[in-house]
Amino acid sequence: MVFDTEKLDRFTREFDSPLYVFDQDSFEDNYRRFVRIMTAQYDKYHLSYSYKTNYTPYICRLIRQLGGFAEVVSDMEYQIAKAVGYEDDHILYNGPIKGPLSHEMLLNGGLLNVDNLEELQGIIDLAARNPDARLKIGLRVNIDIGQSFVSRFGIDADSGELPRAIRLIDSTPNLEVQGIHCHVGQSRSVQSWQNRARRVLEIVDRYFAGKPLKYIDLGSGMFGEMDEGLACQFGTDLPGYEDYAAAIGALFRDYYRGWAYEDKPILFTEPGTTIVNHYVDFVGQVSSIKHIRGKEFVVLNCSKHNLGEICTLKKLPLTVVPGGRPGEQLTDAALVGYTCLEHDVMYRGFQGTLAVGDYVIFGNVGGYSNVSKPPFISPNCAMIAVKGDAAALMKRTETVRDILATYVI
Ligand SMILES: Cc1ncc(COP(=O)(O)O)c(C=O)c1O
Repeated sequence: MVFDTEKLDRFTREFDSPLYVFDQDSFEDNYRRFVRIMTAQYDKYHLSYSYKTNYTPYICRLIRQLGGFAEVVSDMEYQIAKAVGYEDDHILYNGPIKGPLSHEMLLNGGLLNVDNLEELQGIIDLAARNPDARLKIGLRVNIDIGQSFVSRFGIDADSGELPRAIRLIDSTPNLEVQGIHCHVGQSRSVQSWQNRARRVLEIVDRYFAGKPLKYIDLGSGMFGEMDEGLACQFGTDLPGYEDYAAAIGALFRDYYRGWAYEDKPILFTEPGTTIVNHYVDFVGQVSSIKHIRGKEFVVLNCSKHNLGEICTLKKLPLTVVPGGRPGEQLTDAALVGYTCLEHDVMYRGFQGTLAVGDYVIFGNVGGYSNVSKPPFISPNCAMIAVKGDAAALMKRTETVRDILATYVI
């Protein structure tokens, strides 16, 4: 988003400083583009938004209005999905340890992906207690797609675990498999998406040939939109949505050639950072500038916890908007936070002019930022959504009362 002093003065006067700013118009445009690209390759595609990435209800409700499903991994996230108006049949419940509400949502037609055999046994027991209900589940499969680590999630497809799970399900009269799920983190290449689509379709072919499944869920892990300065830190020529869609779509179209639309599975992906990162900026302000033994420190009124881990791994896109005071030239400054941690550094090697009161805007902080902010030293700040010229509050500034609410005094 493009900021100027007048706009930022207005935002911070009305909503406080620092501040998360969600660019709703650009988010919506990108969301529609993502879905259009996926659907052009496989017509029965649906997006299921990963709540863990950023469960801000305003954003979740917007995604519901745009037609997206909800992907949750805990009872907390499930209840957020319900609070923003989701019916169970538009919620995908994943995760290695689900809460008791997962059984309720399953009985109500929710889409639940079982992670392990112990969880499966719990569902078999649930089926036995509800003989009149017909329970339908998905299985998260653990597959090797050539990633550099062994994932701990899902049921191992390369050992006896998966056939064992299927035998257990087949011997339970009112339980059946309706979906296959996989997600492999830290694997954002097009090749890894091709591998996961191919492996999952092999599993479908081996265990469910001829039996229509309701869905196949390939998880997430695509590069999303980002500024050039950030993109080049991930490598050259990063793939775009079209590249992923073409790779998966070709395999799915080929496998389901000749199938009627009603019989084909829905293809889900579960983007989180992929669709939200680029559309949240964080506006902090310079509180003091220090020169200590030849080092330059700029203290901001925020902390690395506001921005999330990404600021410790990469140099986030950074914009400075003058606050009105004369600035000083800095050559190699560390932008540091309000906490008392030496390693609370949000940006290293800053070069440019800064003054107390200047606005420092970090881009690409939509994922794992506000949801990962601990109540450490200070509560979290407000969040706003900007649509056209209007700004709406998404989350008010937290107070000490919010923090103390769960403590016994
Ligand atoms: C099961 C699952 N789905 C979706 C996501 C979101 O992935 P991304 O943020 O890469 O879009 C994650 C992230 O860890 C995940 O574990």
